[in-house]
Amino acid sequence: MCGITGYIGYDEAAPILIRALKKLEYRGYDSAGVAVIDGEKIFVRKMKGRIELLDKSLLEAPLSGTVGIGHTRWATHGEPSDINSHPHTDSEGRIAIVHNGIIENYVKLKQWLQSRGVVFRSDTDTEVIVHIINYFYRASGGAMLDAVLETLKLLNGSYALAILSSDYPDRIIAARKDNPLVAGLGKNGVFIASDIPALLEHTRDVIFLNDGEVAVLYRDHIELRGGDGEALKRETTHIDWDIDSAEKGGYPHFMLKEIFEQPKAMSDALGPRLKKDASANAIIDFDEVKLDERWTQARRIVITACGTAYHAGIIGKYAFERLARVPVEVDIASEYRYRDPVFDRNDVVIVISQSGETADTLAAMRLAKQNGAQVFAITNAPGSTLSREADAVIYTYAGPEIGVASTKAFTTQVMCVYLLALELGRLRGCVSAPAYRRYTAALSAIPNQARQILDKKELLQRFAARHFNKAKVFFMGRQFDYPVSMESALKLKEISYTHSEAFAAGELKHGPIALVDSSTLVAAIATQRALFEKIASNIREVTSRGAASLVITWQGVDSFDTVSDEVFTLPETEGCLSPLLSVIPSQLFAYYCAVQRGNDPDKPRNLAKSVTVE
Ligand code: AGP
Repeated sequence: MCGITGYIGYDEAAPILIRALKKLEYRGYDSAGVAVIDGEKIFVRKMKGRIELLDKSLLEAPLSGTVGIGHTRWATHGEPSDINSHPHTDSEGRIAIVHNGIIENYVKLKQWLQSRGVVFRSDTDTEVIVHIINYFYRASGGAMLDAVLETLKLLNGSYALAILSSDYPDRIIAARKDNPLVAGLGKNGVFIASDIPALLEHTRDVIFLNDGEVAVLYRDHIELRGGDGEALKRETTHIDWDIDSAEKGGYPHFMLKEIFEQPKAMSDALGPRLKKDASANAIIDFDEVKLDERWTQARRIVITACGTAYHAGIIGKYAFERLARVPVEVDIASEYRYRDPVFDRNDVVIVISQSGETADTLAAMRLAKQNGAQVFAITNAPGSTLSREADAVIYTYAGPEIGVASTKAFTTQVMCVYLLALELGRLRGCVSAPAYRRYTAALSAIPNQARQILDKKELLQRFAARHFNKAKVFFMGRQFDYPVSMESALKLKEISYTHSEAFAAGELKHGPIALVDSSTLVAAIATQRALFEKIASNIREVTSRGAASLVITWQGVDSFDTVSDEVFTLPETEGCLSPLLSVIPSQLFAYYCAVQRGNDPDKPRNLAKSVTVE
């Protein structure tokens, strides 16, 4: 998730842009850059690495000028490198842009531009935007705003943009769709940024851009336009947050912010892969991985990962076996690397890691490669060791996750796994055309359904307020609900420090029930309709021994109303896709329990975000 800044005013732009970028550091980044207009020319300075490097370079050789844009890049297309860093310019260096988001149709646009002789310098999706603006700019005889509006009409995907033109040094053009932008009028000029903290030093009266809107910033005023260029009016909003809370977008913790980012993150993971074929039917297509014979003929899929990513792997097992009828083995990476597993050159090996730097996961990947396997990585971190060493990489596009407890990284991993399983199922003839249509439609609906769950957060907040002090919390479920139970228990123990376990509900009588008493809360994930009766019996078994209970199930289901103390309902999706939704209440419950217990959910004791040692 990149950070954008822009300034047009009466002071030197570069130091203002750098200070603003530092306020956006929390978003995560791997490179940084600025572009400043000095007289009639645009000068760009950009590089891989920390903002401090860029700052140092600008102190040694300053860029002068009172108009500029800045960027911190979180790589999605193309590795973190100087050349892929933003700003990007057109071939003549007269237009510069910074971009946050993903342009889903960039391959087609790039091919079209290349056919017109445009030479690309970077691997980014962003670079197409600046060349298209230039194309329309030239075609229109120099109408910059029109060129931007025409360009936006061609872009599929998400963007927040800030655009400089050396022909118009009196303005910056900004635009947004599905990525935040906020503008502010200060005493010494006008500012634009991805988030409020970057503006607070200069102004607390801001204008939030809505999707589809364009802002033209001048030194002393801001013009707001709709997608067709029509003038819009917008009241300013006064910001009275303290700076720390502003960096969390108004959320008290990064974890809560990241839980709430899941609809967008899942949509970002889905969008570039769910395409339309020639007959306008939905089709799953990974630009980065072709599901060739290696996949369709595979006799086995092996998935290995740690922690939350391992739970995504177990969901993968259920999904691949259900949808593609191929056997799957899932292994904790620290076990896989030492247990002398059996290798088969025809295995497909999938390694899942949010950070791409987990020591055990990397060792497992290397072991598989040494033994002849081709390794496919699912990761959120371009440029990570995993992304560099794997044979092919699928990015989850979750954006940076700051909270140690993984939330949006998990649901986007699961989304990628489903896309793979479903497409493989189609290719292997295991998923019929009508079922494929049903599943792809269901996947498209997930982000919105996730929003509906988040809207009911207060129910879980109240439930957590009643039960946060329980000595033991158990999660149980059957089929797809079992790995969700595992992830739920991990979330709760990680941040609330409550003793929490998960088990397959069918195992209850094989041991765990011995621990159940009145100090226990048992939460059942119940989304598999064929097994409702069995889960209801399991709940009766624990409540009759004094345990409190919670059931997470579909809206409209009444099977648990008289059985459980509390029922939290979800908008219904296909049973085999349920983990994408059913994990969200558990994340919220864990978060609220941690807060009730006075813990910092973002920095749980003894845990690190990235476990780079054994
Ligand atoms: C998740 O909440 C945990 N913090 C942890 O289990 C994590 O998923 C695990 O360490 C694996 O990390 P990775 O995805 O970066 O490899």
